[in-house]
Amino acid sequence: MSNTAAVIPEAKARLQVQDRPIPQPQGSEVLVKNGAIATNPVDWKIQDYAMMINEYPNVLGSDISGTIESIGPEVKRFKKGDRVTGFADFVGNQDLNHGAFQQYTLLNDHATAKIPDSISFEEGAILPMAIATTGVGIFLNLGIPRPEGTEKQSGGFLVWGASSSVGSAAVQVARSLGYTVYAVASPNHHSKTREYGASHVFDYNDSNVLANIANAAKGDGNTIRLAYDAISENGTSEQVASVLEQQGGGKLVVTLPFPETAKKPDNVEISATFAPRLHTDSKEFAAWLFNDFLERSLADKTFVPSPAIEKVEGGIASVQKALDLHRKGLSGKKLVIPLA
Ligand SMILES: NC(=O)c1ccc[n+]([C@@H]2O[C@H](COP(=O)([O-])OP(=O)(O)OC[C@H]3O[C@@H](n4cnc5c(N)ncnc54)[C@H](OP(=O)(O)O)[C@@H]3O)[C@@H](O)[C@H]2O)c1
Repeated sequence: MSNTAAVIPEAKARLQVQDRPIPQPQGSEVLVKNGAIATNPVDWKIQDYAMMINEYPNVLGSDISGTIESIGPEVKRFKKGDRVTGFADFVGNQDLNHGAFQQYTLLNDHATAKIPDSISFEEGAILPMAIATTGVGIFLNLGIPRPEGTEKQSGGFLVWGASSSVGSAAVQVARSLGYTVYAVASPNHHSKTREYGASHVFDYNDSNVLANIANAAKGDGNTIRLAYDAISENGTSEQVASVLEQQGGGKLVVTLPFPETAKKPDNVEISATFAPRLHTDSKEFAAWLFNDFLERSLADKTFVPSPAIEKVEGGIASVQKALDLHRKGLSGKKLVIPLA
């Protein structure tokens, strides 16, 4: 048996299909036979800009879902045959065996979650990066306490970019915590965004979008003190910061660095989420997020895989095609490569 992989042979090179050995899990690693993998913007950005990766050849990709083939000696929570999703650690350890874009991937058990039988591998594959980025942003950057029992948060929570992979997850998590969610997306995606839990939806192309958000919050008797900017490009972070400033101040989490030249309102605390923290300084948090929160939320359906899926057929050989499509931009969907 071999492991078909989409290998990046050197910086900025196109992916090549190669046979690699199937790795053996060590310590707290699990070996997954991937049923589906998904792409993220960071994958084509690494390929184009030679960032984040120091070792070549390498195998990129963070998002997988499949069946556990074998486990390391320290693994207690998982066993062979479990259907799982997981956030692959190729950025942290630069180890080819931890990249998603191959038939077999090693996962760290703290970033692995069992998925219910009702969730397909294609749906499972779109979860990891979205929940990692959302979870770090909401619980670590914004400092919202982990939910316990039936206690709920209250007040307004703004998500800008609610049709994106990360933004649609942020809408769902903020709603499940109890917030009233004010969500910004283009009108094509308003009805889906409401389904994910937004109470109010706004069009980012409307020149009155900021006033509309403020009016809706006022109408609800809410103040918006928390915001998640899932886009963080083309002026979105400045717009979100100004909403919080007008509301009297608050906390904003961004997915890309806040522009250095932009003015930061004095009463808004701005910080950037960084999903790979789950494999460095936040492993205990990762274990709670994946082994506990995600498993529970999928089981009770307070979190569903989002956004819509577009399949790219052709197996590992089609990963480069998926990266090329992703580079052109997606609208309210995520690309998934099903594997046999
Ligand atoms: N810091 C981290 O650890 C981390 C992790 C993951 C992702 N990221 C970054 O987070 C960003 C989002 O990633 P993703 O995978 O969620 O992206 P994505 O799903 O590919 O985002 C595409 C969506 O963004 C929407 N959009 C584009 N411009 C917008 C704007 N000005 N206002 C509102 N919505 C807008 C589009 O909506 P329409 O088509 O309707 O216009 C589209 O549905 C990327 O820049 C990514 O690199 C960071």
